[in-house]
Amino acid sequence: MGILNTYNNTNSRDFLFMQTKFLLEESQMPKYWYNLQADLPEPLPAVLHPGTQKPVEPSDLEPLFPMALIEQEVTTEREIEIPEPVRDVYNLWRPAPLYRAHRLEKALGTPAKIFYKYEGVSPAGSHKPNTAIPQAFYNREAGIRTLTTETGAGQWGTSLSFAGSLFDIDVTVFQVRVSYNQKPYRRAVMETYGAKCVASPSELTEFGRKVLAENPDHTGSLGIAISEAVELAVQDPNTKYALGSVLNHVLLHQSIIGLEAMQQMEMADCWPDVIVGCTGGGSNFAGIAFPFMGHALRGGEKSRIVAVEPSACPTLTRGKYAYDYGDTAHMTPLTKMHTLGSGFTPPGFHAGGLRYHGMAPLVSHAKELGLFDAVSYTQRECFEAGVLFAKNEGIVPAPEANHAVKGAIDEALRCKREGKEEVILFNLCGHGHFDMAAYTSYFAGELSDHEYDEQELAMALSGLPSVNA
Ligand SMILES: Cc1ncc(COP(=O)(O)O)c(C=O)c1O
Repeated sequence: MGILNTYNNTNSRDFLFMQTKFLLEESQMPKYWYNLQADLPEPLPAVLHPGTQKPVEPSDLEPLFPMALIEQEVTTEREIEIPEPVRDVYNLWRPAPLYRAHRLEKALGTPAKIFYKYEGVSPAGSHKPNTAIPQAFYNREAGIRTLTTETGAGQWGTSLSFAGSLFDIDVTVFQVRVSYNQKPYRRAVMETYGAKCVASPSELTEFGRKVLAENPDHTGSLGIAISEAVELAVQDPNTKYALGSVLNHVLLHQSIIGLEAMQQMEMADCWPDVIVGCTGGGSNFAGIAFPFMGHALRGGEKSRIVAVEPSACPTLTRGKYAYDYGDTAHMTPLTKMHTLGSGFTPPGFHAGGLRYHGMAPLVSHAKELGLFDAVSYTQRECFEAGVLFAKNEGIVPAPEANHAVKGAIDEALRCKREGKEEVILFNLCGHGHFDMAAYTSYFAGELSDHEYDEQELAMALSGLPSVNA
């Protein structure tokens, strides 16, 4: 029977189960972001001043962020309206599609239904513009003319550069050196948007010069790049700093992913039994998971939620839940989070966006409350999963996203073993078009896997600040 006949002979529910894309109209794009803080059974631990170790006041954060973002950082309101100019830009690529991975399901021989939310349709190729756009908007509203930032994978630097060009803000990006060397085209894209991109550690800042004096070949880390960006921002009242992950307001902006996915899962007449996301600083994971988590906390259906991280930077699975600095130079406030120690430099493995020593405090807190599970995988098994996904679904995932793909595949294989028809939803947070050098290294057998022994981890953690909180 031809494919048209097959469709003609199916009823609408069968058709839904054969459908591949679940698309929302622009008019259906959420008008509010969702804030998990409103539904938490226990509030977040306080953020502490790095000097006094007393809870920070909003004014302490003013050298770094505009007041609108500081207010979003601390609010416990459930819904925050997305400003119209932000929604207007979101319309360039949002609502993002939700796909049913029919071909991957078939390749795995699983009875599970696999759905993925695809964030690679944004101009930068990932979820990062979801927060870059509002951050640039609120800074511009506050009269800010220059933003500094860090980037690991290059995705965030690209996103903020794009946002800067739309809102007439100059952007300086400190790109972790290993990623700067591996991805020259990311830099070219940032420059196309008019931004300045510098390899970190750099000679531009006092802290960069100090790191280079100790080790001229330092490959860099997100912690060091953050210190450099913060150092420049605090020196000039017209310059502020923007962070691409970790902070509450970033997670808030990313909630649009899960809010759209909820509508799309309803369109598919399914609800996820399992939700999977990869975690670097925690923002794309929170984006897909928090709206569902909040739904369950308010008495709705409960999904099992799984965070996937690299075993070379195992923050959630092997880090300590403690107060720590967000950067290597200890200029940022102290937050309670899962951390490997702010001096931790992960090996130069390719998932550059997952190389952060800490985890979003809100994600860490949710983990402590038992609201989700965390697993870790080595990079080679993640590339293997990404290649299987690409061969069946066509999209070449970013190396970071491969961790979520691997997590979803493992869940689908569990369903196969247990004969369960569960619904799995994962966040395909970005494409890998700028990461082909990493794929080439993988195909050439040049990638190695790194697991830390307890002694190495203990050493990295020995520098944690002692905090009486
Ligand atoms: C494609 C992609 N996925 C994931 C991440 C990790 O960040 P987060 O955990 O904040 O989503 C990054 C960070 O650069 C990224 O570029």
